Amino acid sequence: MIVTIDGPAGAGKSTVARRLAERLGAHFLDTGAMYRGVAAAAIDGGTDPADPDKAGELAETLHLRFDWATDPPRLLVDGIDMTHRLRDADVTRAVSDIASNPRIRQMLVRAQRWIGGQHPNLVSEGRDQGSLVFRDATVKFYLDATPAERARRRTRQLAESGVEADEQKILEQIVYRDRRDMSRKDGPLIKPDGAVVVDSSEMTFEQVVDALYEIVQTALAGAGSGA
Ligand code: DC
Repeated sequence: MIVTIDGPAGAGKSTVARRLAERLGAHFLDTGAMYRGVAAAAIDGGTDPADPDKAGELAETLHLRFDWATDPPRLLVDGIDMTHRLRDADVTRAVSDIASNPRIRQMLVRAQRWIGGQHPNLVSEGRDQGSLVFRDATVKFYLDATPAERARRRTRQLAESGVEADEQKILEQIVYRDRRDMSRKDGPLIKPDGAVVVDSSEMTFEQVVDALYEIVQTALAGAGSGA
C-alpha cells in the first residue's frame, strides 16, 4: 500500500501524512526533508545551492538515509543527523534552487522509489509523489488550502514557537513558492491524475486525517473484494 499526498507548501501535508501513516500502521516519507537535506549539506559544505552544476555534483556524492527507528524518521546525510538543520531559515531559502535542479530531482526520485520498494506500506508526501514518483499508488491525494489560510496557519505556528512574523510577508513567500513549484519543468506541482482533492481551508487537522483515513480504508476494502 502506497498512499501519496501532494500539495502546496503549508497545506499541512507533513502533519497529516505523519498521523495518517500512524493510523494505517505505515511508514511516513517526508520527501521535502530530502531536498532540505541536500540544501543544508550544500550550505554547510560551502557549495552554492544556486549553482546547478556544483550543487548537482555535490548531491551525487551524498548518502541520504532515514533512520526509521525514530518518529518522525531522522534524516542522516553521510551518516550525520541533519534533522535539526532542515527547518532553518537559510535552508528554507536555498531549497527552491535545489528542488528546481533536474539532476538533483532525478537522483531523489530514484532514492524515493527505492525507499518505496523497501517500505511497502508507505505514506509519502511531497510535490510529485502521485504524479511522478509513485504513479501506481493505492490512493493519491492532493491536499490544498487557500494561500491566505496557509499564511494564517504558518504565522500562528511561528507565533506559538515564539517567532513574530508578518502574515503579509509570509503570504507573499507562499505565493512565490507556489509559482516556482508549479512552473518548474521537472516534477512540477500538479493535481495528479486520479487524485482525490481535499481542500483543508475550512477543516480541522483531525477532520482532514479522518477524511483521508476513510478514503484509504474504502479503497483497500474495494481492492480486497476485487472491486
Ligand atoms: O515540503 P517542504 O517545504 O519541506 O519542501 C521543501 C522544498 O522542496 C519545497 O521548495 C518544495 C520542494 N519539494 C519538491 O520539489 N518535491 C518534493 N517531492 C518535495 C519537496
